[in-house]
Amino acid sequence: MIWTMPLLPILISLLSITSTADARNHFPSSPGSFYTSILTNLLQSLRLTHCALSDTTSLPQSTLPTPSEGLSLKFITLGRGTQNYTCATNANTSAPEAAGATATLFDISCLAALDAGANTDEFHSSDQSLLHAVPDMLKPIPLGSTDFLATLVNRFTGQNLAIGKHYFTNEGVPFFDLRGFSPDDWIAAKKDSEADAPAKPGYGITGDAAWLKLKGVEGGIREVYRVHTAGGDPPATCEGMSEVFTVDYSAEYWLYG
Ligand SMILES: *[C@@H]1O[C@H](CO)[C@@H](O)[C@H](O)[C@H]1NC(C)=O
Ligand SMILES: *[C@@H]1O[C@H](CO)[C@@H](O)[C@H](O)[C@H]1NC(C)=O
Repeated sequence: MIWTMPLLPILISLLSITSTADARNHFPSSPGSFYTSILTNLLQSLRLTHCALSDTTSLPQSTLPTPSEGLSLKFITLGRGTQNYTCATNANTSAPEAAGATATLFDISCLAALDAGANTDEFHSSDQSLLHAVPDMLKPIPLGSTDFLATLVNRFTGQNLAIGKHYFTNEGVPFFDLRGFSPDDWIAAKKDSEADAPAKPGYGITGDAAWLKLKGVEGGIREVYRVHTAGGDPPATCEGMSEVFTVDYSAEYWLYG
């Protein structure tokens, strides 16, 4: 039940909002505590989606090329889904081949805004550590449960956290669909460059998928970055694997247009 730990307090707080105005008093407030800061922000603003992205919100540093000139950040989303693979044999002499991915895209702009706000004093850098903790936190939560929680949040707050879909077309083209926003908010992309996911202290070999920059082939969104990946990499060989298999992952997707 470890997966309920991060999200349950958030969910309970959301449910309380609807029934009592001073729900905040029911929660301990140790300053600086991870969950308390999330709760306080949620309870004060009640705003979970469509937060304005401030100037201090900048793409995590990596060896990937920076966004092209003239583009601006349109969405920060959390993708939760699977990376898919195929294996020609189940022997240790062949390696898994990538066969696309499927993920739901959740709006995390308000977490980015919260982080930017929390880090503007002289004691903190704006490193968005709260935001970047989310992919690791969400990866162990079963896929259906993340969608279910988003549905509950929608039911109780009227706000829609699930704002898009990432998948591959039949031609194997990576596609991001956020047309719920506006008709231009989509991209058919191709890989531009890739960087190994950085090691995480204390985790050993993580199996995190590479960080990527994708460029637009078509669509109103022009560039997409996949960063702060959690999971998604296949085993090194096909030994004992079935012909088709999936590996759970989550990652931040930053979309520019
Ligand atoms: C692959 O499997 C064979 C026999 O099953 C074994 O002899 C060999 O050492 C294995 N190679 C690796 C790299 O694990
Ligand atoms: C990946 O696998 C999942 C689960 O089997 C499936 O629903 C999805 O359609 C697959 N996506 C791609 C791009 O093959």
